[in-house]
Amino acid sequence: MRSDIIGNCKSTLSFRPVRLLTALLAVGFSVTLLSERVNAADDEKVDLKRGQQLYAVCSACHGEEAHGNQAIKAPALAGLTDWYIKEQILKFQNGQRGAHPADTAGLLMRPMARTLKNEKEVEAVSAYIASLKPVLPEITLEGGDAAKGKALFAVCVACHGDKLQGNEQLKTAPLKYSNDWYQLAQLKKYQAHVRGNDPADAQAVQMQAIVAGLPDEQTMKNVIAYISQVARK
Ligand code: HEC
Ligand code: HEC
Repeated sequence: MRSDIIGNCKSTLSFRPVRLLTALLAVGFSVTLLSERVNAADDEKVDLKRGQQLYAVCSACHGEEAHGNQAIKAPALAGLTDWYIKEQILKFQNGQRGAHPADTAGLLMRPMARTLKNEKEVEAVSAYIASLKPVLPEITLEGGDAAKGKALFAVCVACHGDKLQGNEQLKTAPLKYSNDWYQLAQLKKYQAHVRGNDPADAQAVQMQAIVAGLPDEQTMKNVIAYISQVARK
């Protein structure tokens, strides 16, 4: 009996280290996987949380929900994609946007972009803004003829998309939730080369070429009136 027990123990002992090693490896492996997953989740959480903290400064002008404030010419940001927001903040930071002396609204925004210390902060606040719920903005412009704007819109569709969703490859702005007064201001700025006065800003240069084909404010209002209709389809 006794020798049997000892024998059993011995045989148990003899393969225990192997088992133990296998068990440890398995546990170690899953712990590693788990901690990687936890870290990834942490990263995402930290980013949005950090983004929310950083957005406190922005909310003073763009609003708590990023629905904009016409009185200070700060547009709605909710409804923009994270990649577009990031791209524009970087342009404000490097002076490709918001540095022209005639660009009063841009000059207001540029120092705000520079409160963001590095690309991680830019990405965090962009992700946070992109997570906010957009609303279709009020129509504020008068006198636009949407029927006349429709033909012009055929040009815009190619880059901004038939649902005004923007295009990441082309770095084209989403327009669906964009304020009409803000769009008009931007078209005028492109036309006057107040937005996009750096030839290295390829996207702005593209828009300047487009607005060169819009002869006057009435034409701009017409196409924006049609864009407002498309946004409500
Ligand atoms: C003092 C008011 C003010 C504050 C604070 C402010 N902004 Fe702005 N922002 C503006 C104005 C005004 C514009 C419009 C600029 C223009 O007409 O080109 C703008 C434009 C933008 C745009 C461009 C939107 C588009 O459709 O291209 C982005 C993105 C933006 N702001 C992000 C931010 C972020 C992020 C913060 C916080 C770090 C911030 N803003 C803080 C006033 C402000
Ligand atoms: C060749 C591609 C292309 C076409 C066509 C085009 N756009 Fe754009 N649009 C862009 C790009 C790229 C940007 C972003 C430019 C930048 O970074 O300054 C832009 C930006 C804009 C903005 C500023 C958006 C913002 O949030 O600040 C408005 C408004 C706009 N486009 C309206 C129009 C209208 C209206 C038409 C048609 C008449 C049109 N675009 C046609 C590529 C295009």
